[in-house]
Order: sequence, then structure tokens, then C-alpha cells
Amino acid sequence: MPSWINALQFVILAILLWFIADTLGFRKIKGIPSIPGYPVVGNLLQILDNPSLKYTEWSNKYKTSIFQIRLGNTRAVIVNDYHDIEVLWCKNKNIAANNSRPLGYTFHDIVSSTQGLTVGSSPFNESYVRKKKAISSVLNQSKVHLKSSTIGSHVNDMFKQFIASQPPSHFMSKSNLSAIPDINMMPYVQNMILGLSICLIYGLNVDKALEGNDHTIDITRTENEILHLRSPFTNLKDYIPILRFISSSSKQKTLRSVRDQYMNKFWNTMVQEIDLGNPTVIASIMGQLYLGMVNGSNELNIPELKSICLSMVSAGLDNTPLNYNHLMGHLSQLATGEVIQKKAYNALMELYDNDLQLAWNSVESESTCPYIIALIQETLRIFTVLPLALPRCLSKDIIHKGVLIPKGTVLIMNAYQANHDSQVFQSPTEFFPERWLNSKQLNHFSFGAGARMCSGNLLACKQLYVLIAKTILMFHIKPPMDPNYQMKLSPFEMNGNPSATCFEPKLFKVRLEPRCTPAHECLYYNLFS
Ligand code: HEM
Ligand SMILES: *[C@@H]1O[C@H](CO)[C@@H](O)[C@H](O)[C@H]1NC(C)=O
Ligand SMILES: *[C@@H]1O[C@H](CO)[C@@H](O)[C@H](O)[C@H]1NC(C)=O
Ligand SMILES: *[C@@H]1O[C@H](CO)[C@@H](O)[C@H](O)[C@H]1NC(C)=O
Ligand SMILES: *[C@@H]1O[C@H](CO)[C@@H](O)[C@H](O)[C@H]1NC(C)=O
Ligand SMILES: *[C@@H]1O[C@H](CO)[C@@H](O)[C@H](O)[C@H]1NC(C)=O
Repeated sequence: MPSWINALQFVILAILLWFIADTLGFRKIKGIPSIPGYPVVGNLLQILDNPSLKYTEWSNKYKTSIFQIRLGNTRAVIVNDYHDIEVLWCKNKNIAANNSRPLGYTFHDIVSSTQGLTVGSSPFNESYVRKKKAISSVLNQSKVHLKSSTIGSHVNDMFKQFIASQPPSHFMSKSNLSAIPDINMMPYVQNMILGLSICLIYGLNVDKALEGNDHTIDITRTENEILHLRSPFTNLKDYIPILRFISSSSKQKTLRSVRDQYMNKFWNTMVQEIDLGNPTVIASIMGQLYLGMVNGSNELNIPELKSICLSMVSAGLDNTPLNYNHLMGHLSQLATGEVIQKKAYNALMELYDNDLQLAWNSVESESTCPYIIALIQETLRIFTVLPLALPRCLSKDIIHKGVLIPKGTVLIMNAYQANHDSQVFQSPTEFFPERWLNSKQLNHFSFGAGARMCSGNLLACKQLYVLIAKTILMFHIKPPMDPNYQMKLSPFEMNGNPSATCFEPKLFKVRLEPRCTPAHECLYYNLFS
């Protein structure tokens, strides 16, 4: 008998035993309600459609903020209420200090085997601690502030590109509203964020760096497809190991090779330019970390630097544009959106003594207008682009409300639900920026929480601030002519890929009507001169 048959028998037997043990409840965590599921798969097939919504449903049905589920061979604890998340993620010392990520087969073993893991997907160990420290320090408040003018000039270029693509008569002193086309802002913003990221990280121009490749590389699309592989829900192979022998991973390997092409190109160009003494590249985030490694002033090694590169290229590519776009959708709602735009515009103009050009220039370096900050917080809260943040894996046993949750358990926060917890946010489904003006204590979980919270939150907020302030200073945001393209307020209803990690809204559009005052004409003129 060939040996693989023996192996197969063994695997089947092992799965059978494990399934029996699990059905009998041996691996259940005592004291935490468990959601009924199915043999082998557990609850996996019940959460393929907007898992965050399903968790909220279960939380209500079983009247419990915390419950456990089984995803194939993985046991996960889901936490739904704001205060439980706060206690577990921020106040529990064992979680705060040592916090890992679950390892997924598809993402970690296949896709990431060449460029390494991102910081966000690294399991906890000393190498992670070094990377996290480095990335947090290069993206802290003062470092992000130093990048203000780079961010501002990329945003200006985006508007120039946008205006140039519109029929010219719209930017004359009297605009003709009915001639303004419905547009999807996503490609403009994604393109801008990509160029900005490559400039901040390596000091390189993205188009120049990729020149000479046989075909154009669509980085945004590749990273987006890789993001899909990260989804803890779409990769059945992660949870049901036997599937790994049956289906192939060729798509994953193709994506990996495309990613290798551009990541290697950026890295090699950076090293070359540093050797040539290019001052922009030397001053860039990675340029400084690289030189610090060479002269021994930091403890990072090359794989760790490459992991930081990967994190910074991929992390904001979707999240930041999606948040901007969601806000555009809100502002384009006829009655409510106009009121908010008016308040935002007036707040900015008041801050800068009604001097439009001064306001336009100043929002880059001074990102301080309280109403705009509130607008960003409210967008992040109500949308919660990663409705389940990123999963954690306990690296220590913990005790919560008298219940022991063992090491190795996957811990998932229902960030969307917590951000809509009516105990904390009055009328949680209402878009109400003012709630952030009155309360200093208020928080949301759109960047996660605790020790593994998003390291790019300050950069993301800065980018959003400049983008949003400039959009509002220059345009009225109007609903699309075609009502089919109006954004629906519920991100679940709009979700084009309900099993993905982040919301991926179906196509919607807005119209940007240029504000028409003499001061605005000057502004357009100066922008292009
Ligand atoms: C609006 C934009 C963004 C949102 C909503 C967002 C959201 C998140 C969330 C929910 C997490 C998981 C946190 C947790 O487990 O508690 C995360 C992790 C992370 N994010 Fe972001 N992010 C954004 C932009 C960025 C940007 C621009 C960067 C970097 C340039 C970045 C870098 C990271 C890193 C490095 C981690 C991993 C942190 C760790 O595991 O220690 N993010 N992000
Ligand atoms: C966290 O983990 C590291 C390495 O595994 C260990 O040395 C350290 O004591 C842990 N810290 C806490 C507070 O558990
Ligand atoms: C940390 O974990 C990563 C990913 O599993 C591994 O490649 C690396 O060797 C580990 N580093 C240390 C110092 O343990
Ligand atoms: C930011 O990090 C740098 C080191 O990279 C440090 O010198 C500086 O004090 C930090 N600033 C803030 C506001 O934390
Ligand atoms: C406004 O645009 C519409 C559609 O392009 C056109 O039919 C109309 O004549 C324009 N009106 C003026 C005053 O230019
Ligand atoms: C090493 O290089 C970094 C980055 O260029 C620089 O900030 C630091 O001062 C250098 N340290 C030493 C000891 O030369």
C-alpha cells in the first residue's frame, strides 16, 4: 500500500477524533456562552455574510456581550460591547503587554513567504517589538507634522488632476450645475495615497521608480486582492487543514510574484539612490531607518525593514480613501449633508479670518480646526472600515469577569457594534460630528485599541484632514444626478464583498460643484500657476 494512503487514513482519523472531542465540548471555554454550529466547520458557514452584523445578532439573541464560536479548528471569543472591549483590550495587563496575531495558512505561509509579514500580521516576538517601536516612532505626531508640506502638495496635485479631467467651463465664474458629471472619487484618492506613501517611505516618485517594467503594475489592485486573502473568513483552508491538499494556491502565488516585483524595485532603487547621495531618499522614512541600521543606531535587520516597508505601502492604501469616500457619500445627502458642509466651511473660514487662500495653505501644517477633526472622528466611527478590526491571539491566559480564557484563543472585537453602542453614543446611527466636540473622553475602535492599535492613525488622520478641508474649501458636494449612484448610509447594505475583512462599498458617485466666488477664481488660478 502506498504510504500516502496511510497518511490519508491518519489525517481522516485525526479529524474524526478532533471533531468528536469538539462536539462533546472538550475544547469549549467554560463560562462563556457558545453559539451552536455544525460538525467540522463549526460556525464558519454562518458568518460568511457580514460577520460583524451576525455577531451583533447573536449578541442580542443570546443576551450576551461576549460569546465563543468555533471556526473549523479555531476557537474564537467575540466581544461586542464598548466597555468590555475597553477592559479587555486596553486595561487587561496581560493582553496589553503581549499580544499576538493568529497565523493564517494562506496569508502567512503562502503570500508572505518572500517579502515577510507586515507589522500588523506578525505574531508577537522580539522582532515584532523592534518593528513596532520603529514604525510607531517614525509615524508619531511630530514626525507626521514634519511631512505636512509633502502631504499638502500631493493633495493639491490630486485636485489639479481632477480639475483638469473635468470640462473646463465648470471652473468659470458661473458654474452650470446640470452640466457637472457624477464622479467616483476613489481612483483619484487611491492614486494620490499610493504616490504619497511611496514618497514618504522611500523618497521616490512612484511612476519613475516603476518605469521600464514590461507592463504596468497595478499596485492598488494587487494589494487589494492580497487583502482578500487575509480575510479570516474566506480562507477555508486556514481552518480546515485537509483542504490544503486538495485545492491549489496558484492565484496566491501569482499575487506574491507581482508584489515581489514592485517591492523589490522600490527597495533596490532606494539603496541605489542612497549610494548616489540623493538627499530626498536619504531623508525619507526608510532612508533614515536603513542608514540607522547600517551605522548601528537601531537594532533592525533587513527583513525587519522590508516588513515595515510592506506595512506602510499596504496599510493605508484602501482604508484612508474608503473613509474619505464614505464622508463624501454623507455630505452628498441632500438635506443633512448641506448643513454639515456649511458648518465645516464656516468653521475653516472663521479660523482664517475669511481669507480663502490663507485657509487653503494653512490646513496643511495646522490641522487644528475642531469641527473638521470632529467630522473625521465621526466618519471613522460610523463607517468602521474594518468592522472587526484585526483578530488577536492571546499569548497568555487571562481572566475576565471570573472566566479563564486560555492562551492561544483568538480574540475578536466587534468594532462596528462597539462604535454603535447606544450606552456610549446617543443615537448611534445618526451622523452627528458635534458629539466629538463636547466630550474629551469619547473614543472609537476604528483603529483597534491597546498595544496593537493601528500605528498609522496619526498619519491617516492628517491625510484625511488635508483632503477633507481642501475638498470643502473648494467645492459644494452634491448628490449624483443618477439616483442609483447615491450612497446608502448603511455600510452593510453597501457592502460589495460581505465576506471580506474590510468594507468594500459598491460603486457610488457624487458631484463636486466648484464654489464660485472671486476668491475661488483666484484660488484655481494660483493652484495652476
Ligand atoms: C483610516 C485609515 C486606517 C484605518 C481605519 C486603520 C485601521 C487599523 C486597524 C483596525 C488595525 C488593527 C488594530 C488592532 O488590532 O487593534 C490596524 C493596524 C495597523 N495599521 Fe492601520 N489603519 C489605517 C491606516 C494606516 C496607515 C496609513 C498605516 C501606516 C502607514 C497603518 C499602519 C498600521 C500598522 C503597522 C498596523 C499593525 C499594528 C500592530 O499590529 O501592532 N494604518 N490599522
Ligand atoms: C511578554 O513576552 C516576553 C517574551 O515572550 C516576556 O519576556 C515578557 O515577560 C512578557 N511580558 C509580560 C508582561 O507578560
Ligand atoms: C518572530 O516571528 C517571525 C514570524 O513568525 C519569525 O520569522 C522570526 O524568526 C521570529 N523572530 C524571533 C526573534 O523570534
Ligand atoms: C517621536 O519620535 C522621535 C524619535 O523618532 C522622538 O525623538 C520624539 O520625541 C517623538 N515625538 C513625540 C511627540 O512622541
Ligand atoms: C448647462 O448644461 C446643460 C447640459 O450640458 C446644457 O444643456 C445647458 O444649455 C447649459 N446651460 C447653460 C446656461 O450654459
Ligand atoms: C546613524 O544614522 C542615522 C540616520 O541617518 C542618524 O540619525 C544617526 O545620527 C547616525 N548615528 C551615528 C552614531 O552615526
